[in-house]
Amino acid sequence: LKTKVAIIGSGPAGLILGQLLHNQGIDNVVIDNKSQDYILGRIRAGVLEQSTVDIIRELGISERMEREGLVHNGFTMIWGDDYQRQRIPFTELTGGKVMMVYGQTELTKDLLAARNACDALSFYDAEDVTPHDFYSESPRVSFTHQGEAYQLECDYIAGCDGFHGVSRQSVPEQEMTVYENAYPFGWLGVLADVPPVSDEVVYQHHQDGYVLCSMRSSTRSRYYLQVSLDEKLEDWSVDRFWTELKRRLPDDLAEKVVTGPALEMSIAPLRSFVCEPIRFGNLFLLGDAAHIVPPTGAKGLNLAASDAKQLSDGLLQFYNQGHSEGLDQYSSKALERIWKAERFSWWMTSLFHKLDDSAFRQKMQLSEIHYLAHSKAGQTTIAENFVGLD
Ligand code: FAD
Ligand code: DHB
Repeated sequence: LKTKVAIIGSGPAGLILGQLLHNQGIDNVVIDNKSQDYILGRIRAGVLEQSTVDIIRELGISERMEREGLVHNGFTMIWGDDYQRQRIPFTELTGGKVMMVYGQTELTKDLLAARNACDALSFYDAEDVTPHDFYSESPRVSFTHQGEAYQLECDYIAGCDGFHGVSRQSVPEQEMTVYENAYPFGWLGVLADVPPVSDEVVYQHHQDGYVLCSMRSSTRSRYYLQVSLDEKLEDWSVDRFWTELKRRLPDDLAEKVVTGPALEMSIAPLRSFVCEPIRFGNLFLLGDAAHIVPPTGAKGLNLAASDAKQLSDGLLQFYNQGHSEGLDQYSSKALERIWKAERFSWWMTSLFHKLDDSAFRQKMQLSEIHYLAHSKAGQTTIAENFVGLD
């Protein structure tokens, strides 16, 4: 079996890359070790930056997103014992950019539908997927599918297989530097078919831990509470979640919380992680395979999309014009954007979460939020990062 680009992983990074290449006539094969049903069952991110929205439009699969996505022109920050609040009008502050609330699950559904409708080859439920010889001119990916062993020969391998995938792990350790930060807390999330408390996202600093009110539609809410890492999911009934959410929110919002059964409930640890470089010979890493951000600031999915766009531009240049500058610059260019998103996510996490028991640090956070909220420069720095840097 032969192709130009072998794509390991069928999450947002792999599917966006595959579709960008396919639309330009560049042959590629996607291989994932899970089934499409399993992939569509994953509940993850929900917020698309302007540039991700633009990529989805460029792919020609934006019809449902335009209809069902919730365009956001701002979000609200709440902080302090007296529940001060300030809306950050990011469209106004960024020359018209917006953020789109459209679940990763829905986006993945649209991407998979486009992939299935075209003649590009994909393998799901593949076993023992392994990249080989990527420091040579003839890389390949081996895997087993429905009992048959395959050798996929290619020009390039795109490792889009997430944080625990095989691509990054195939690179000799001495070839990369890893930068990492773990946070001593996690997010307890609930997805429920109840109307959201607000039609825009709310970030709240609370002395007992951060609160995020988000949504997937006018009838589906996504809430998160900061919890300590030793919390166990089995100790949290959905009723306990609703009680704690209402206890942390200001009264007017607490009154608006509509409770109901959880469609999904989980605890996600928070982590910052970057590997450098993100190109190893003819193997490129994209998305969570290369980097992880804590979810504060909603950058994970958007970075996966921008990596895919960056690499696809380089590959198009190579196949259509015969020069490799774009590919040669992929690692350094993508990492510039990655580090900016890492910084923003780390900063928003440090600003809004209960970090420890230090009353002084809490005062510093509250003072910084107050400053940002009431300064045009402060609002703008949050807004331009939220909607995504160019
Ligand atoms: P993934 O979506 O992880 O896709 C990787 C694909 O590779 C998967 O389909 C997997 O099955 C496949 N794969 C893995 N290993 C192999 C292998 N060995 N062989 C073949 N295929 C393999 N981001 C936000 O911005 N906001 C959020 O609220 C948010 N919540 C999250 C909650 C959770 C529980 C998780 C895990 C992530 C969350 N993220 C969030 C991050 C965001 O979802 C990711 O950044 C995004 O999914 C990255 O896309 P990706 O394509 O790089 O990786
Ligand atoms: C979600 C929204 C956010 O603003 C964020 O930072 C993380 C996640 C969400 O809707 O899932």
